[in-house]
Amino acid sequence: MLKVNQKFYPPQRVLEMAKVKDFEALYKKSISDPEGFWSDVAKELFWFQDFDKVLEWNFPRAKWFLNGKTNISYNCLDRNLDAGLGEKIAYIVLDEDGNEEKITFGELHRAVSSFAKSLLSLGVKKGDRVCIYMPSSIEAIIAMLASARIGAVHSVVFAGFSAQALRTRIQDASAKVVITSSQIKRRGKNIDTLSTVLEAIKGLDFVEHIIVSGECPQNFISFESLLSSSLADASLMDSEDPLFILYTSGTTGKPKGIVHTTGGYMTAVYLSTKLTFDLGSDDVYFCTADVGWITGHSYVVYGPLLNGITSIIAKGAPDYPSIRRWFEIIERYRVNVFYTAPTAIRMFMRYGNEFLKGIDLSSLRVIGTVGEPINPEAWLWYYKNVGLERCAVVDTWWQTETGSHMITTIPSYPAKPGMAGKPYFGIEVKIVDEEGKELPPNTPGYLVINKPWPSMLRDCFNEPERYNQYFNSIPGNVYFSGDIAVCDEEGYIMILGRADDVLKIAGHRIGTMEVESALVSHPSVAESAVVGKPHDIKGEVIKAFVLLRQGYLPSEELSNELKNHVREVLGPIAVIEEIEFVDKLPKTRSGKIMRRVLRAIERGQDVGDTSTLED
Ligand code: WTA
Repeated sequence: MLKVNQKFYPPQRVLEMAKVKDFEALYKKSISDPEGFWSDVAKELFWFQDFDKVLEWNFPRAKWFLNGKTNISYNCLDRNLDAGLGEKIAYIVLDEDGNEEKITFGELHRAVSSFAKSLLSLGVKKGDRVCIYMPSSIEAIIAMLASARIGAVHSVVFAGFSAQALRTRIQDASAKVVITSSQIKRRGKNIDTLSTVLEAIKGLDFVEHIIVSGECPQNFISFESLLSSSLADASLMDSEDPLFILYTSGTTGKPKGIVHTTGGYMTAVYLSTKLTFDLGSDDVYFCTADVGWITGHSYVVYGPLLNGITSIIAKGAPDYPSIRRWFEIIERYRVNVFYTAPTAIRMFMRYGNEFLKGIDLSSLRVIGTVGEPINPEAWLWYYKNVGLERCAVVDTWWQTETGSHMITTIPSYPAKPGMAGKPYFGIEVKIVDEEGKELPPNTPGYLVINKPWPSMLRDCFNEPERYNQYFNSIPGNVYFSGDIAVCDEEGYIMILGRADDVLKIAGHRIGTMEVESALVSHPSVAESAVVGKPHDIKGEVIKAFVLLRQGYLPSEELSNELKNHVREVLGPIAVIEEIEFVDKLPKTRSGKIMRRVLRAIERGQDVGDTSTLED
């Protein structure tokens, strides 16, 4: 790994505009009195009824802003209208053909309130789960905010997931309503989403309504028809009322439903959007994440709206119809803040920098990355070719579970390529060994968070024991992130990757066990072991070792068939790069597959201690 220990100081123009010029001073203040700090932030937002206590920490359960009553949709919409932003553009959505759709805060408020009223008329009540299976779009955002407005809990499922993956999520949440679009356009092709939904809900009697945006067959409810009823006021939500469930991969075959609640999530997402990106009221902001992931929830939907910011959404793929697309959007809309993933940066990097010639990127001020470690080479490429050496780069480390940024630098603070940076306001982290003992600088270890924070997950839906696992796997009453990291003498943290059996494929999180169970659901597969294999662009790709059942022989055809099978079971994010047929898998004497051994072999590393290996 190339090590660049150089510090990149913020350019003058970034520093001048910075809201927080002294990161360290504010950080110190935030951790010497976290409750006072968070209380002040929360009070910048609107509460129907003030909270009377900031934090109740009953390890491992936290409650924030107790007895406060608020509503995040009110804070995203009504509060901005009261501030005179009704005519301001909230979103500019661009499709692959360059067609533009705009919606103001006023229009969004109307649409959301009316859709919320319609949901109420359909019998959707506070606490009911609403599944949203839609790509990034104004409709998806309306569906999310309308649910939040009436206290229904949304569960957005990334629209690239297969029918089976969608079914598991609808079933686990026992969603009463499923909202979808009839189709999605990607790379010029129409993908039929409605038929995926219909396959997913077969026999699930608890699903009462299917709402379809776009072409809507007679027996379903048209999304558009729900936009013209009267307006619903935002209901009073308790600070700790659940806001959404978002499924993410863990170390078992079953995804876990991460539960976030209202007041704390709102407060931390509001603050981090404002300070990490240093957003000013006239800024145009462009985050490339899909609403189906946590980055979409926090930094496409809630964060920018809470700050009254104009955002750009680009539908479709990053490199279609051309790799210039995102950059032409930056030029056309004079984007000031751009937030994307290392995998995208590395893909662009492969094209050199010629393709950027002639595109004016001078409007940019802050450029960010998220989702996986960014290697210093990619960081530098981004800094030079997109940031033109005059932007601040923020490398934000956080997770579905953390809800908002946990480690990053802010624009006014020097960054180091490849290092995410420092713990965020109000956040204390440690790098520890198995016993929870803090490690000295430059020693890799487990990354843990010491204290509760407002946007922390509150539960794993239906599976409280999985919630507890975050807090009982490392001694010391800490939250274990599942990541390995290392800290330098100055306190900058570099994330090295996952410590568990979770993969990051092009920034998407997927569990090795999910892929393994998909593989063994094929009649030819007796056993399998899946590992991540380093990849120049995607960070990691999936490699599977497969042991066939008697009567099946390894072949190219079978290999392709298995790849297709997994893709069908899990969806296109689970593309297997390589299958190796084996006669035996390395196992412990108790029969557990030692993925660590396979991983080391794949990486050409020492296999380490194999004393527990069966054979
Ligand atoms: C990884 C995405 C290095 C990490 C917001 C984490 C990162 C997992 C970074 C969470 C970063 C995220 N540098 N690694 N800046 N950001 N990760 O839940 O392994 O999809 O645990 O949330 O992504 O993935 P998730």
